[in-house]
This record gives sequence, structure tokens and C-alpha cells, in this order.
Amino acid sequence: MSIKQQRESLPVFAFRNQLIKAVHENQILIVVGETGSGKTTQLTQYLAEAGFTNKGMIGCTQPRRVAAMSVAKRVAEEVGCQLGDEVGYTIRFEDCTSPSTKIKYMTDGMLEREILMDPDLRRYSVIMLDEAHERTIATDVLFALLKKTVKRRTDLKIIVTSATLDADKFSAYFNECPIFTIPGQSDYLDTALVTVMTIHLTEPPGDILVFLTGSEEIDTAAEILYERMKALGPGVPELIILPVYSALPSEMQSRIFDPAPPETSITIDHIYYVVDPGFVKQNAYDPKLGMDSLVVTPISQAQANQRAGRAGRTAAYQSEMLPTTIPEIQRQNLANTILMLKAMGINDLLHFDFMDPPPTNTMLTALEELYALSALDDEGLLTRLGRKMADFPMEPALAKVLIGAVDIGCSDEMLSIVALLNLPNVFYRPKEKQTQADQKKAKFHDPHGDHLTLLNVYKAWKNSGYAAAWCFENFIQARSMKRAKEVREQLTKIMERYRHPIVSCGRDTNKVRQALCSGFFRNSARKDPQEGYKTLVEGTPVYLHPSSALFGKQAEWVIYHTLVLTSKEYMHCTTSIEPKWLVSAAPTFFKRGLSGRTPRTRSRV
Ligand code: CDP
Ligand code: MG
Repeated sequence: MSIKQQRESLPVFAFRNQLIKAVHENQILIVVGETGSGKTTQLTQYLAEAGFTNKGMIGCTQPRRVAAMSVAKRVAEEVGCQLGDEVGYTIRFEDCTSPSTKIKYMTDGMLEREILMDPDLRRYSVIMLDEAHERTIATDVLFALLKKTVKRRTDLKIIVTSATLDADKFSAYFNECPIFTIPGQSDYLDTALVTVMTIHLTEPPGDILVFLTGSEEIDTAAEILYERMKALGPGVPELIILPVYSALPSEMQSRIFDPAPPETSITIDHIYYVVDPGFVKQNAYDPKLGMDSLVVTPISQAQANQRAGRAGRTAAYQSEMLPTTIPEIQRQNLANTILMLKAMGINDLLHFDFMDPPPTNTMLTALEELYALSALDDEGLLTRLGRKMADFPMEPALAKVLIGAVDIGCSDEMLSIVALLNLPNVFYRPKEKQTQADQKKAKFHDPHGDHLTLLNVYKAWKNSGYAAAWCFENFIQARSMKRAKEVREQLTKIMERYRHPIVSCGRDTNKVRQALCSGFFRNSARKDPQEGYKTLVEGTPVYLHPSSALFGKQAEWVIYHTLVLTSKEYMHCTTSIEPKWLVSAAPTFFKRGLSGRTPRTRSRV
């Protein structure tokens, strides 16, 4: 098929003119349509063809970087231009657009940053918030920000794509705006239940396991199923419906393991059929622990489709499921988001128009964190430092470290370290060659820890002329290093734009460790006489990771980049420090001193 034929074969094509008309007539529009119907790639083009680009760009946000890039690439092909010309994309640390760009795909986080610089988004005529049902923090924040923007900019159009289940909620939130449904989308709960009944009535006996997203939904499903079975009247084999979720008494839960009574039609005590929307382990932020941990959450439709393709016998019954996910804003650290909102002049966060407000605790923890970092003052207002930190698209502690490194005189080194911290592991450790890889890595080890080890890697790679062969020899991920260089260049541009001098400390790398304390003083720990370390803030036991350059050394005081909970709580990326650096980094935070006792954190925000 030619590109034109392909485009015209998509479900959305039949609604092209209706969609254009609906956008002309409504400032905000919810669009619902099955995956693959053409929303992401076609809607932007239709609107461009209809002349919307005469008044500004058409922006389309994606929750994921890879999606933004790949979809832009596809649309550039369809339009017949070079990627970055009429069709381009921006993701964090990468801008593939030009002055001629008319259709711009971007991560939702990037649009958030654009609003920080221009609340009216004057360069745009249309914004499409795509995959909005994924409810990333950035999309949720954009909901509220754009709702304000459209009041000031009556010519700006907003399109929000949604899954069926969320459409009414989205519409209610966006001033009862219309919902445009591209037919073909199925209600996943209904599909799941129809699938269950079809299996029960037409397939050989066997228990059916249905995965749903929460206790409420499970109860609802059980009720609907019961009613529907009853409506079939006598003469159909009985279906025993057993809800199971952790909040149920364990005795109720264990009923599913009982064999079905012999007088019923279900005689096999094994699960025989699975109706599976799919789940995935996702990073979630626990405000109480102040750390990320992995929790099981539903996977996206795209991932579910992938799994459906891989599943064997049960694949035929896989319904296309798109569970409403718990908004990320209710699960993750908000310090970054709050800093940005404050920088936009939004101070009253309690009355901010969140579709689903974050838990108060999560908000308070984030405010406390920003206060401890001196980004907020006693009244909770943004400080000058805080405003500077907001210019950097990264977690506030890292932004502060970069700014702090300027004063201490090591911003050149810190740029490399921060760039590497923003990336996944640079060390390559294949199973068959672990010893060899570890030996190579040990050569880069700095006696003071992992941050300086990263710096050593970057410097050595730079000295090699940024050679890929060097990476190969040294068991370093060449792709990560290349990316680190790009990120470093982007960070350098930000530093220059805001006139933060880039200065090197030469051999005096103590300065680097000291500057790290300015942002990560809360991630500090002291060696425990028994074993491992204890954090200074909470007194929780934490451990050096065996891969750390400090492993087996006797560092008394350390700071770490993150905590990762696996079999134990491991510190990742750990550096030895002098306690006096902590005190000078955050005198009020450590006001009780560091005499081995847990300091009290200030809680006023
Ligand atoms: O957004 P929605 O799921 O409704 O559809 P889409 O992403 O616009 O996809 C429409 C068509 O474009 C599908 O047939 C995809 O396979 C194709 N496509 C592609 O070839 N490459 C991409 N990066 C994205 C979509
Ligand atoms: Mg799409």
C-alpha cells in the first residue's frame, strides 16, 4: 500500500471532516478511539491540512520519550519531510525541531517546561494531550495548566485522547466538553465479562481466572456477572463467582483453591482459562519512607497487546483491556512538580485544580524537601535559589548540586557527573565475563566513591577521543556514554543561558564531594558499628552495594544518590564525605549536630 492508501485505511479517516469540524466548534475536545485507529499519527496531520498551522504549531504530547520520537519519525515519513523540518520532536535533553516545524511531538514533561517559559503557549494553535488516560504527573499538571491557558487564549484548541472508561470523567473536568468517539472501542470490563460467559457456556469445563484492577472493580464485576448469569435462567451450567483480593478475609480468599462441588459443572480444580489485562511492576514513591519501591500496576494497552501476541492457548480470550490507572501524581515524589508550579507563580497548591489531587502527605513531603533544599523559604515561597533550580529539568537535589558546584568551583566536573546520573548504568557486566568486567571497572574506582568513579570514566573516555572502541575494551556501555555527552551539552547550554560559570577544580576533587552534599545531605548515612550503615535522617539500616567503589573500605560518613530496595536497602552511587560538609550545606537541617544522634528535620513549610 502507498502511504496515502495506508492513511486512508485507518479507522479515523472516515471521521476526518467530522473531527476537523468538532475542533473548529469546540475549544476542548475529548477523543476516544481504539489503539491503532490513527489518533496519534493522523489527527495532527488532519488539523495541519485544515490550516490550523497557519496560526501556530500543533503540539502533541506523549507520556514516553520513545513514543514521541518514533511517532514523529512516522509522521515525518507520511508528510514526506526530514524529521525535524515540518515534523519534529522534543524530549528532555534533545530538541529535534527547527523554525519550520509545524507538527511537534514531545514528552508531556517538555510541554510543562514550555508553559513555565510561556504560560500562554503563543507558539501553538492546537495542543493534543495524547494517551491522557496514562495519567502521568506531567499530563495531570498540564490538564490544570491548560484549563487556565484556554481561558486567556480563546483561540487555542485542546484535544485530549482518552480511554473509554475515563472519557466522562475527563469531560466533566474540562467544563463538560464533548466526547468524540471513533467507533470500535470496547469497554474492557464488559469485554472481560462477555469473554468469561462465552468460555463458560461454550468451552470445555475449567476454572476461569480474571485479572482486574482493584477490589471495587472486582466486586462490581462479580455482581454484574451474577446478574447476567441469573438472567439466562435455569438450564445453564452454574457459574461460581469468587471474588478474591487482599482485603478479603483469608478464609474467603482460600475458597478459590477449593475444588468445585461435584454437582456443579465445574469439575477441574485447576485454572484453565485466563482473562488477562496484564500487570507490570512500576516504580512508586512512598512519601513516608521517602523512597521509591516497585509495586504491581496494570500495564498499558500497547503492552497488553504485545503480551496477547505472546500468550499461547489463552490468547484467543485476551480481551483488549485498558484499566484506568492510578494517577502517577498520587504515587510519586512531587518535589520537581511543585518546584515548577511555584516557579509559575502558583503558590496555593491546596486549591490547584488537580483532576485527582495528590495525597496531602505526598505534597507535604515534597514541600519539606524543597524547604530543606532552601528552594522555599519559611513561608513556603520560592527563593532565588529555588527559581534557579527550576530552570533545570531534573530532580531538585541535582539542580541544587549543579548550582552549588558553581560557587564551590567544580561545575565542570559536576556537569559530567550529573549527566551520568541521569542515565542508566554505564558499566557493562555480561554474565560470562563478570570477573573481567569487574577488574576493568576497578581501575576507575576512586577511593572516595562512586560519583568520582563516574567522573573518572567520563574523563578517560574523553581522553580517548570519545572512542567507541575504548568503551568496548573497558566494559563501558558506549550508548550510555554517547548519551551522557549529549546530555552534558544540553546542560552546558542551560548553564550558559542562565549565566552559571563553568569552572574546573582540577585535582581538588574534594570540592566535588562537598558540592554533592549541598543537594544530597538528606541522603546521608553513618557506618554502624554492627554492620552496614544507618541513615542520619531516619536511622534506617542501609547497605553499601557490592558494586560500590567504597565496598570493603571503611568510609565512616557517606552520601548516596538513591536507595534501592531489593533483598536489603542498598545505597546506589555512594561517596564518602566529611560530616562538617553536611552542616555547612544545611545548617538548619542538622541543627542538633552530628554527634551520632539522629538530627531532627524541620517540618515547617
Ligand atoms: O494513536 P492510535 O493508537 O489511535 O493510532 P496511531 O498510533 O496513529 O497508529 C496508526 C497507524 O500508524 C497504525 O497502523 C500504526 O501501526 C502506524 N504507526 C507506525 O507505523 N509507526 C508509528 N511509530 C506509530 C504508528
Ligand atoms: Mg496513539
